[in-house]
Amino acid sequence: MGENTSGRVVHHKRESCLSLEEFVERAPDLTAGERIAVREILESIAEGGREVSRRLALGPLHGLTGSAGQVNVQGEEVQAFDEIAQEVFSGLLGASGRVSVLVSEEREKPDVFPCPSESFLMAMDPLDGSSNLAVSGPVGSIFALYRPGEGDDDPSRAILRATRDVVCAAYVLYSVSTLMVVAFREEVRMYALDPASGRFMPLPGPVRFPDGGGQIVSINTGNYTRWERGIQSYVDTLHSRSSWSARYVGALVMDFHRNLLKGGIYIYPGDLPRGSGGGHPEGKLRLLFEAIPMAFIARAAGGLATNGQKPILDLPATHIHQRVALVVGSRELVQEFSRIAGAPEPV
Ligand code: AHG
Ligand code: MN
Ligand code: MN
Repeated sequence: MGENTSGRVVHHKRESCLSLEEFVERAPDLTAGERIAVREILESIAEGGREVSRRLALGPLHGLTGSAGQVNVQGEEVQAFDEIAQEVFSGLLGASGRVSVLVSEEREKPDVFPCPSESFLMAMDPLDGSSNLAVSGPVGSIFALYRPGEGDDDPSRAILRATRDVVCAAYVLYSVSTLMVVAFREEVRMYALDPASGRFMPLPGPVRFPDGGGQIVSINTGNYTRWERGIQSYVDTLHSRSSWSARYVGALVMDFHRNLLKGGIYIYPGDLPRGSGGGHPEGKLRLLFEAIPMAFIARAAGGLATNGQKPILDLPATHIHQRVALVVGSRELVQEFSRIAGAPEPV
């Protein structure tokens, strides 16, 4: 249900909308206990998303759009809202009794929480694109839920071992509206926050990359001189064409979301140290907090994700804050990238 421009309420076709509860109910491969746990975790994410959204809207009035005056474990400047979102989500997820280990871009070590019954391991980027806050630009929160393996008490080792067993991934996009996008193995669903009721209302779905793959490319071409030749060739090829569009806001959640709905590809390659910038030959984005969840969502929506060599979802994780090159988007565009950049075809 929604309101059209004349203020009339629009009823989306009922059968194409699934409440969060209904979506979890039909998710594949979950035991009854896991289903309850996943539902409660998603409810915690929804509650956190609502709270972060509310506080973001007031950020400029409270002088909360700048730095927190610290540097995080990634060596990056912490924004006040990185810390606020961290506290909101870790408080709710910890209290849910359903997340036994939580790793975050903003914390060096895992948080461990007591869980009386079925629980999951979780990785999150509590606030993605936080440099956009200074200009009231879009930001997001990213989550992945992993099934715990057997017999590993060390929380870091447990989550590194579990990264190939993603059960569910989600992001919250704080933009003109606040959206929550949730994926299980083969299906992606989208919800919009109704600020009046505080509820995330289902939008028609499932969400899939459009047929044909689209024509949008999101890449920071300011790094051109620091890329390897294959990436430069890809961008050179685009420039010789008339039928493509460049779109980049510098927040993965927003750039990915646009490409998911309109058809496109997001690329953050490794960049070699040259001049005063660069120096992430392995890529800037984080495997656990950004690449794996987006790769899982992309695959469930019919797309692909690779680091240029291998599918993201097949990469072994060696440490929590591991960085990776990320190419993610519609199947056609990721396959074309691989052909032009000379990377092996992703499957
Ligand atoms: P975060 O705010 O969590 O550190 O993530 C920022 C990431 C990603 O969201 C975005 O696409 C990318 O960094 C932008 O990087 P550049 O400014 O180097 O293009
Ligand atoms: Mn991020
Ligand atoms: Mn972040």
